[in-house]
Amino acid sequence: MNSIVHEPLAARALDSLNATDLNGRIQAALARIDRTLSQFAEYFPSPSSESGIYSPIDNVEWTNGFWTGMLWLAWQLTGEDRYRSVAEGNIQSFATRVERRINVDHHDLGFLYTLSACAGYQLTGDSLARSAGLEAARLLLKRFDPVAQVIQAWGDMKDPKQRGRMIIDCNLNVPLLYWASRETGNKDFAAAADRHLAQAAKLLVRPDASTFHTFYVDTKTGKSRHGSTHQGHSDDSSWARGQAWGIYGFALAWRHTSDPAYLEIASKLANYFLNRLPTDGICCWDLIFTDDDVTPRDSSAAAIAACGLIELSQALPLSAEMRETYEAWAVAIVKTLGDSYLAPIEGSNALLLHAVYHMPNKAGVDEACIWGDYFYLEALMRLRHPWRPYWA
Ligand code: GLY
Repeated sequence: MNSIVHEPLAARALDSLNATDLNGRIQAALARIDRTLSQFAEYFPSPSSESGIYSPIDNVEWTNGFWTGMLWLAWQLTGEDRYRSVAEGNIQSFATRVERRINVDHHDLGFLYTLSACAGYQLTGDSLARSAGLEAARLLLKRFDPVAQVIQAWGDMKDPKQRGRMIIDCNLNVPLLYWASRETGNKDFAAAADRHLAQAAKLLVRPDASTFHTFYVDTKTGKSRHGSTHQGHSDDSSWARGQAWGIYGFALAWRHTSDPAYLEIASKLANYFLNRLPTDGICCWDLIFTDDDVTPRDSSAAAIAACGLIELSQALPLSAEMRETYEAWAVAIVKTLGDSYLAPIEGSNALLLHAVYHMPNKAGVDEACIWGDYFYLEALMRLRHPWRPYWA
């Protein structure tokens, strides 16, 4: 097991984020949601901002569920119906989207429906939310290739360029399958999720605990082919957000499977990530960069990693040496995000600035990304309250 060599920031953080401080940070986040609630009542924020401003879009992107998830979090944090009523309006939109098959031919059905429909059903018992979530899970199951044993990330299942291609982000999509298995009693959902995660552990995680963003498996023979990047610096670097999806996703894999191997993988990935942070604790967009000020940060990857570190620290046994260290790092990251990466209340409609959506495509570079906002609020919720994750 690799170890953490760089922890002074975390060591200072644990005592410094008490309930009053967390409440203040939650209020600051809610104030930023409130200023956009009417703008995004019928429309959704775009995946990334331009000059700190999200534009309104229809329910067509892979990212729309993050806004609805933020509304459910805001409702749970406050009990105020203005959040619930917008979130409930979103459920109708997600039900229509899956029924009419609007941009649903990809694996991000998990992000979309876990945070909207499944969260809504968990919190309110709404039957429309349940049926929309189950329909999304059925579509996701159809993306499982029985020879390659992976969920194909993108594109038509017959597209030769995309067949057998898995990506690390999918670790956060498979919870939808576990949920559907529990809801319906149909074990096929969980079996596909189990097999995909086993392949992710085997193929996406390198021996040094860095990760490939994507990996191809031959759909005729089942043999592994090669790793490649899509949003990272290079095929053999570790895209920071991919590593963060891995930390959180493998910690959640333990929650769903009880297989302790996944906790060990999540820990190794976490150590690799934590050892490559610049001095303020917020990762650069690819972990090939470890220095300050040479390349943009990805605050959204930091927020995802913070949630993953909290999930991991809570999953580890009380006696585990690293439990407190991971929690301390999560606190340190959340604190820095709130102190130095929070969008101003005027002139932006986002929560967190300084994220990177897609550097190779020059899309959303040093901008806000809506999933970063969601995971920042989730991290605040997790640090402040005992909370059942929507991913559970
Ligand atoms: N799942 C796509 C991304 O993280 O940009």
